[in-house]
Amino acid sequence: MEQTKGKVTVWWSAGGGVGKTTLASAYASYLTKQNEPDSVALLDFNEVFPRIHKVFRTEHLSLSPVYDAIEKKEVTVDVLKRVMDKKQGIWIMPGVFLSDFEQYGPEHFIEIIKLARQVYKEIVVDVNAGMFFSTTYAALNEGDEIRVVLEPSLYSLEDTVFACDFVVNSWGVDRSKIKAVVNKYDNSDFDSEAARRILGVEADVIKENESIKEAFEKGQVSKIADIIFGKTQKTNGRKNIFSFFVRSEPNVAN
Ligand SMILES: Nc1ncnc2c1ncn2[C@@H]1O[C@H](COP(=O)(O)OP(=O)(O)OP(=O)(O)O)[C@@H](O)[C@H]1O
Ligand SMILES: [Mg+2]
Repeated sequence: MEQTKGKVTVWWSAGGGVGKTTLASAYASYLTKQNEPDSVALLDFNEVFPRIHKVFRTEHLSLSPVYDAIEKKEVTVDVLKRVMDKKQGIWIMPGVFLSDFEQYGPEHFIEIIKLARQVYKEIVVDVNAGMFFSTTYAALNEGDEIRVVLEPSLYSLEDTVFACDFVVNSWGVDRSKIKAVVNKYDNSDFDSEAARRILGVEADVIKENESIKEAFEKGQVSKIADIIFGKTQKTNGRKNIFSFFVRSEPNVAN
């Protein structure tokens, strides 16, 4: 099967509730504004408690046809497309519920990413927190860029250092693929410079913002994309990305 070069960006974190699903969804929405129609996929790699379908108010389709086809070694991109649903310009693949997550192994999710690369130019993956699921292993190994999300606290930073070291040392993940995103920045001393210094990777900061929370609850993903990434005109390139993030100066972020 021919392999094309769809880019895979994974949103991951050490601990839960830091904003992965919010940011992954918003990032996918941002990418739809930058690209031709049908270029962007959002894969829900949350096992046990998948939530993307709820955010996008879409029906939860079962991944079973993909699983069965992979097991029979006859999976094609058409099988993957059948379990995907287009919402707000994004092709969404549902996650795996508790009822059947045990049957899936990393090989299934690696295969899914390979298939998605053949169809979409941009593939955004929202994974479980931590290092405990097959999806996380598959996504971090296959991803081109890993955005590790943390909160502006020492605990969150410590956990993130530990988690990054683990995936680099035990899973062979290339550290240069990792970029940190300090989310829910609240004007504390902890800023992107601190994250950059301690984690040894590039870091950006996103401010805590009630409008993001409200829009997330209402499923207004495009609005979140505009708040975080700016209202974008079509540009070709990713140059402007994160230009609306607060950089290392805490007092700008008010
Ligand atoms: N910058 C922000 N400002 C304010 N609220 C935010 C921000 N980012 C995320 N949130 C809110 O934080 C909550 C948790 O976000 P989200 O569900 O995206 O986290 P998660 O990392 O995906 O969690 P889990 O680990 O459970 O999957 C949500 O209510 C979301 O709207
Ligand atoms: Mg989530």
